[in-house]
Amino acid sequence: MESSLKRLRRRYIKPFTNNFNRWQSVRYGRIAVHFKKHLDGGGSSFGQDLVTFLALRQMPRRQRVFEWCAGPGFIGFSLLARGMAETLCLADVNPQAVQACRRTVAENGLGSRVTVFRSDGLQDVPAAERWDLVVANPPHFVDDWIDDLRSYDRGWHLHRAFFADVGRFLEPSGVIVLQENNRGSTVETFRPMIEQSGLAVVFVAECRPERTLHDRFYYLGIMRRGDPPPAWATAAIL
Ligand SMILES: C[S@@+](CC[C@H](N)C(=O)[O-])C[C@H]1O[C@@H](n2cnc3c(N)ncnc32)[C@H](O)[C@@H]1O
Repeated sequence: MESSLKRLRRRYIKPFTNNFNRWQSVRYGRIAVHFKKHLDGGGSSFGQDLVTFLALRQMPRRQRVFEWCAGPGFIGFSLLARGMAETLCLADVNPQAVQACRRTVAENGLGSRVTVFRSDGLQDVPAAERWDLVVANPPHFVDDWIDDLRSYDRGWHLHRAFFADVGRFLEPSGVIVLQENNRGSTVETFRPMIEQSGLAVVFVAECRPERTLHDRFYYLGIMRRGDPPPAWATAAIL
């Protein structure tokens, strides 16, 4: 049981003191990505494994890439810096994350290639957006890190709404690649939500059948049901 002092600290004191965290940056090729520590949800560390995962599968350069739950956009900007994305769309509900993304865009002169939206899920993303690839390291837990914006997805509502909405933004043969945590879920946690939304799981990599005791990341490839998977996505079946 969480003590009331701990709750006070988590709900009010920490969010307030976070405002005073200093700006930092991490460099991917020519792009310096700006962030504050409390906005990093792992994208600067294990999130880069998602970029390597796509590179190892020799994914060809994608015209437009969307990073859902982008935080400071570590994964998206890294794809852009490595020439794996031509243009980038980023969205997050946290205004501070959006501010970090905009700072990176401005400081690196990326205004013609990157658009940033503040959006709860996909709610405030313009309907005209179309994506060849969607990547994300979203909140991973339904029963841990309660109320932590980076980690907690109450009742999987955020995932469920994403699966229900994302299909209309996908280009034909567009692929979604999620980085999930086996400590919080398995592919079977999401498969019913995915299938109910007219989507299909096209590959699963590095996922254990049961939830694990420790953090362990796996990858989920998803497409619109019936769309033929591109070769790089099929090659990802391990
Ligand atoms: C695990 S963190 C990942 C952040 C970043 N992509 C990274 O890899 O470091 C999850 C992100 O989801 C965002 N998020 C949580 N709820 C959201 C919602 N309802 N709509 C959009 N983004 C949300 C958080 O603000 C946070 O930036």
